Amino acid sequence: MGPILCNYYTTYRCNAKCGFCDIWEQPSPLVELEDVRRNLQDMRELGVRVVDFTGGEPLLHPQLDELLEVARSLGMRTTVTTNGLLYPKRARALAGKVDLLHFSIDAADASVHNASRGVDCFDSVMRSIQVALELGERPDLLFTVTNDNIEHLERIYDEISRPNDLILIVNPLFEYNALGASLSEDVLSRIKAFGKRPYTYLNPAFVTLRREGGNDPEDPVCRAVSTTIVISPFNELVLPCYHYGLDRIPIEGRLKALWNSDVVAEHKRLEGRHEVCRGCTINCYFEPSFASAPTKRFFWESLPSKMNYGWTKFVLQRLDVRSGPREAVLPGSDTAAGNRKARNHATTLASGDNLIDAPTTP
Ligand SMILES: C[S@@+](CC[C@H](N)C(=O)[O-])C[C@H]1O[C@@H](n2cnc3c(N)ncnc32)[C@H](O)[C@@H]1O
Ligand code: SF4
Ligand code: SF4
Repeated sequence: MGPILCNYYTTYRCNAKCGFCDIWEQPSPLVELEDVRRNLQDMRELGVRVVDFTGGEPLLHPQLDELLEVARSLGMRTTVTTNGLLYPKRARALAGKVDLLHFSIDAADASVHNASRGVDCFDSVMRSIQVALELGERPDLLFTVTNDNIEHLERIYDEISRPNDLILIVNPLFEYNALGASLSEDVLSRIKAFGKRPYTYLNPAFVTLRREGGNDPEDPVCRAVSTTIVISPFNELVLPCYHYGLDRIPIEGRLKALWNSDVVAEHKRLEGRHEVCRGCTINCYFEPSFASAPTKRFFWESLPSKMNYGWTKFVLQRLDVRSGPREAVLPGSDTAAGNRKARNHATTLASGDNLIDAPTTP
């Protein structure tokens, strides 16, 4: 089986400083449009179907809309996750170009979310929801669940997800580089039960993997290399995964040849078998790994949640979009006033406002 997914790091720069993430600490350039074009052409030939333009904060890349257009012109699906700080200003340029758009939200209270993100961005997430709905987008809410914010899950569902018919994705915290923490059994049970509700998505195999102690290097589930191509903002192929990053090979216009090289074959042989892989639960790689692991039990466990997600995303939400723009219903806000604000954002954007004036963390 060839790679199906690309995690394309558009930049490591970020305008937030989350406690569970250290990407923002790294100095970084922005990916070059021509490199992306070349690499995506190679990836199409290798069979990649989905490109996740990630970061850092992907909206800090001023040409993100063009990167998305390149991927879609090659028949690939696109995904973008954002902290929302820049979305209201970039929304119109991005509209219709992101197949799976996610807004990160860690709490139902502004103060708790802002403390988690190290920057005031809760109001931007709320504005982002308003603007997105007005433009006919249906962003998912991506909730990174920790032992400390579990109480907010229910509230985000009741106050934001359900009133707006937006999918709430439950993204269990994972550990790497001494960041993150193990989730308690209480949290695991609660998210597993919660993930059965309509308009939610939790891959229950994430819970099982954690209960079993994560990846076992003697019998690995991880298929990070086989399933996923990781590219850095320096135009390097990162192996075996971003979070371990043992090898960083300059691509120099030969991604396809590199992918078929002995170096990558060796990385495939060792994926999930390194000592650092013991106990690993990094969601980004296990989601695609479950689809291809030799033991199919994680595949079968994942399947119903994926089918439910697909039904909600590609049937229910599409019908909803056809019924025209909708007004966001948000906690403690005057919806009409909120939407006036959202419209102003969109108008400002159309009139050519400066799109990249937000604070950055190089
Ligand atoms: C790395 S960020 C990149 C996109 C953007 N900067 C954002 O935060 O939305 C993608 C997602 O990964 C989540 N994330 C970061 N560190 C994590 C960790 N240790 N465990 C689980 N999820 C994590 C973030 O909350 C975010 O929703
Ligand atoms: S906003 Fe995203 S990339 Fe930035 S620090 Fe937070 S999780 Fe990391
Ligand atoms: S088990 Fe984790 S650290 Fe090891 S290759 Fe897979 S994703 Fe990377």
